[in-house]
Amino acid sequence: MKVAVLGYGVVGVGVYEMLGKAQGLEQGPVLVRPGKADAPFKVTSIEEICADPSVGAVAEVMGGVSPAFEYAAAALKAGKHFVTSNKALVAAKGVELKALAEENGVAFLFSAACGGGVPFLHNLSLARRSDRIQSLGGILNGTTNYMLDAMQRLGMDYGQALADAQRLGYAEADPTADVSGLDALRKIMLACAVAYDRLPTEGLLNEGIENITAADVAHFRGRGYTCRLLARGGQNPDGSVYAFVEPVLLREGAAECSVLENYNLARYEGACAGPMVFIGQGAGRWPTASAVLRDLSCILQGQRAMLGESCRQAKADNAALEQLYYVRLPEAFAGRLEAESAETENGVARLITKPMSVLKMHGLAREIRAAGGELFFASIGG
Ligand SMILES: NC(=O)c1ccc[n+]([C@@H]2O[C@H](COP(=O)([O-])OP(=O)(O)OC[C@H]3O[C@@H](n4cnc5c(N)ncnc54)[C@H](OP(=O)(O)O)[C@@H]3O)[C@@H](O)[C@H]2O)c1
Repeated sequence: MKVAVLGYGVVGVGVYEMLGKAQGLEQGPVLVRPGKADAPFKVTSIEEICADPSVGAVAEVMGGVSPAFEYAAAALKAGKHFVTSNKALVAAKGVELKALAEENGVAFLFSAACGGGVPFLHNLSLARRSDRIQSLGGILNGTTNYMLDAMQRLGMDYGQALADAQRLGYAEADPTADVSGLDALRKIMLACAVAYDRLPTEGLLNEGIENITAADVAHFRGRGYTCRLLARGGQNPDGSVYAFVEPVLLREGAAECSVLENYNLARYEGACAGPMVFIGQGAGRWPTASAVLRDLSCILQGQRAMLGESCRQAKADNAALEQLYYVRLPEAFAGRLEAESAETENGVARLITKPMSVLKMHGLAREIRAAGGELFFASIGG
């Protein structure tokens, strides 16, 4: 099968190179911007790719929602299988792309968009056909894992850890999507869509790591905890889906604590299969390209979809799940939370809350910040 590649950046170069060596797959044209077609295999028109009967599949690795969506729609309507590594595209338009793929009898796969090289969505999409997925999630953002690990093990402060991640090419010049938790949130949206046929697009909650300090890390390190940014999803008893991202304090021995530097860990728990854990490179040219190639190989073997026929957009409901939280905030605001224990020093309170819902904790944090209170919180995990 000849594969056209849209975008020739970090991942695009990797996909094109791998296509040259993969079984059953062939290098096709590569779409670049006008003025950048400096080799015979590069083209500048999506129409040319769609009209080429020798192209069987299109791999989109450009990023962004538009024009990626319009190009994807054109490729699907032209009867080309479509594979993407673009989480922003699938989070925004996944349900529409699924419908277009079904209408045109072609495939739509996107396992590189969540977990990079880690074969998480691929296995989840197989498992959910025969097992009930009870929960899913994990460390889905390598940049923030690198930073938290550097703060925890190397004693860096937040600014040093971010600068180091940028120097190593793990964090973008604008790291907002990573440190705010948005990148991990998009990935858990995709995982929920694969597992539950619900793509949650409203009611989502994400707390990143922008507010963590070296003093927070020292505090919970002294108590035997390691902090990780976890994305979590699952199904409530009424069938609705929960989906959120927040820092979590974990006891030594939890698998997440041994995930160092920029690695990812994704997990799901099947009612029959039990817990399944996947660890690997969540980003980078070759790991991500390898996931795109894996999807293309799955198409050769007959796979057509990762989203079920009934998949639709839905509102996440984060009100049911209750947890304990560690909260650091100005003493003046401490009375806003019901605490199980509290320590106060120099006007700063560090609380362990009574069990409270994810929805309530994230809402209170918003209110306290709006009133001028600086705050960091993390749930207390197993
Ligand atoms: N990098 C990773 O490790 C990684 C991991 C998992 C998923 N992803 C996802 O993979 C996608 C690509 O990431 P990347 O790191 O490879 O990005 P990148 O290095 O910025 O490459 C994107 C390429 O697409 C080109 N492009 C953008 N819009 C285009 C258009 N309208 N027409 C033609 N070419 C266009 C860009 O060209 P210009 O340079 O001219 O703008 C650039 O060469 C993103 O969705 C990203 O989220 C990346």
